[in-house]
Amino acid sequence: MTSDLFETVGDIGPSRETMAEGAVLLRSFARPFEAELIPALRAIVKRAPFRHLITPGGHRMSVAMTNCGRVGWVSDPSGYRYDAVDPESGQPWPEMPPVLRQLAADAAAEAGFSNFAPEACLINRYVPGAKLSLHQDKDELDFAAPIVSVSLGLSAIFLFGGLKRNDPTRRYRLAHGDVAVWGGPSRLFYHGVAPLAEGEHGLLGRQRINLTFRRVLMA
Ligand code: SIN
Ligand code: FE2
Repeated sequence: MTSDLFETVGDIGPSRETMAEGAVLLRSFARPFEAELIPALRAIVKRAPFRHLITPGGHRMSVAMTNCGRVGWVSDPSGYRYDAVDPESGQPWPEMPPVLRQLAADAAAEAGFSNFAPEACLINRYVPGAKLSLHQDKDELDFAAPIVSVSLGLSAIFLFGGLKRNDPTRRYRLAHGDVAVWGGPSRLFYHGVAPLAEGEHGLLGRQRINLTFRRVLMA
């Protein structure tokens, strides 16, 4: 009886977990946006399809990526950068739809960062086996704004460390609709994603989609 009660309570609404100072996990926060969010993402991916970028070290990333917004994050053998033009199409990236802006701003506000107005949304696609090695998000010019990260589809294990690459990491399971926000003292914390486990998600199938919203330019 007790365990039933706990399961029910856990299922009915959003909850919050603190990962570090300035870093919070908002469980299920994106669920109310889902009906508008998923068609908006499908439209973006039609115009700017997922691609596997090559790192400056010459490795093909296992995660496939695309972007929307004024600028998009790209990597090629010459380095990492934000670019207003999609190098595949030669066209500007698709605009960031209002539903994405709203979700990002609301999640940031909920985490204590008001007036978050990101110019970039990096869209990552993981299939089983894909992973993202520990890294810092430091190609932006503005570290005053947080990173807002939205998880959709299959669950993944998110690794969240500290300011140094070899700081111990904690593992968090990110499920469909969960939003992680890190800023302030943890804005430059190392983070990554463990290899995605096999699975099938009811809405999105055999994949995980992650959106990271970034304020790239100086405010
Ligand atoms: C990222 O670090 O850019 C993505 C994190 C994630 O996929 O959860
Ligand atoms: Fe990142």
